[in-house]
Amino acid sequence: MSQQTSGLAIETAGLVKTFGDTRAVDGVDLAVPTGTVYGVLGPNGAGKTTTVKMLATLLRPDAGQAHVFGHDVVREADEVRGRVSLTGQYASVDEDLTGTENLVLLARLLGHGKKNARERAAQLLEAFGLTEAAGKQVKNYSGGMRRRIDIAASILNTPDLLFLDEPTTGLDPRSRNQVWEIVRAVVAQGTTVLLTTQYLDEADQLASRIAVIDRGRVIAEGTKGELKASVGAGSVHLRLRDAEQRTEAADVLRRTLDAHVQPEPDPVALTARLGTAASDDTAAEQAARALGELARAGITVDNFSLGQPSLDEVFLALTGHDTQAPKDEVAA
Ligand SMILES: Nc1ncnc2c1ncn2[C@@H]1O[C@H](COP(=O)(O)OP(=O)(O)O)[C@@H](O)[C@H]1O
Ligand SMILES: [Mg+2]
Repeated sequence: MSQQTSGLAIETAGLVKTFGDTRAVDGVDLAVPTGTVYGVLGPNGAGKTTTVKMLATLLRPDAGQAHVFGHDVVREADEVRGRVSLTGQYASVDEDLTGTENLVLLARLLGHGKKNARERAAQLLEAFGLTEAAGKQVKNYSGGMRRRIDIAASILNTPDLLFLDEPTTGLDPRSRNQVWEIVRAVVAQGTTVLLTTQYLDEADQLASRIAVIDRGRVIAEGTKGELKASVGAGSVHLRLRDAEQRTEAADVLRRTLDAHVQPEPDPVALTARLGTAASDDTAAEQAARALGELARAGITVDNFSLGQPSLDEVFLALTGHDTQAPKDEVAA
């Protein structure tokens, strides 16, 4: 199971961690290819951080196995630690030190010489858009700046595998975009990234493969396309010339397609979510047939588009609840 033979950065089988009565991680199997961003997507309390901590050798699994670049996280913890870095909800930067002081100190702890440490710090601060803030104490940083310095601190030595545990939770959209750019840059340099997130669009933006995790279990795994395809073939969006024809258009779509049709707030707009079961036809073939039927019924379509389902729809379909719903509420 070495990196060379399997090509996997992470491989787990039946990983379990319990806290009292809580099965925080309940038999997780993962296979993370090297050189990519792998997304672990799940709501609060799903078991993401516990999984990451076991992989980063900070928590010992109760059952199952985990290998990082072929090394067992329990028996070969030192080898694993030598190749991974962790950032996220608990970072090692000191609030009272400046950005530069933090990075220089950490670089020195990692064995860089004085000059080298200062150069690496300056280089990362620049790359992460923190040059102006370099001389300020970290406690005065904004949330976005703080997240960026956390990531900078974790890649002082370029790790083979970087764990990013909810790196953008609570950030404004602009700061999120900055973090996304950084993640892309890190991967472009050859680092494998395991990214946990509660945000469907974040996994969609960054990850090549995604494991959807809920209550300690992987409930779906695959490429984005595979996950979406497992839920539905896609959606057809229509805009009609005449709002008065909308009811009739919805009837035609329901008749022609295996689809859930719903009106949009815009009085001329309609969305039909295509099912997977009833037809072997592709979404495009179904859509073409529907357009033909609409034309035959004398309904004028001004605008038409065919889209894949969103990851939001994927999560809802897989779990029966959305990502925001607290567990208790769902169980009740
Ligand atoms: N140290 C701990 N002691 C007790 N329960 C914990 C501990 N850490 C996590 N848990 C519980 O395990 C579950 C999974 O938590 P966590 O891995 O932090 O989820 P996530 O990171 O996806 O939000 C939650 O129900 C959480 O309350
Ligand atoms: Mg967490």
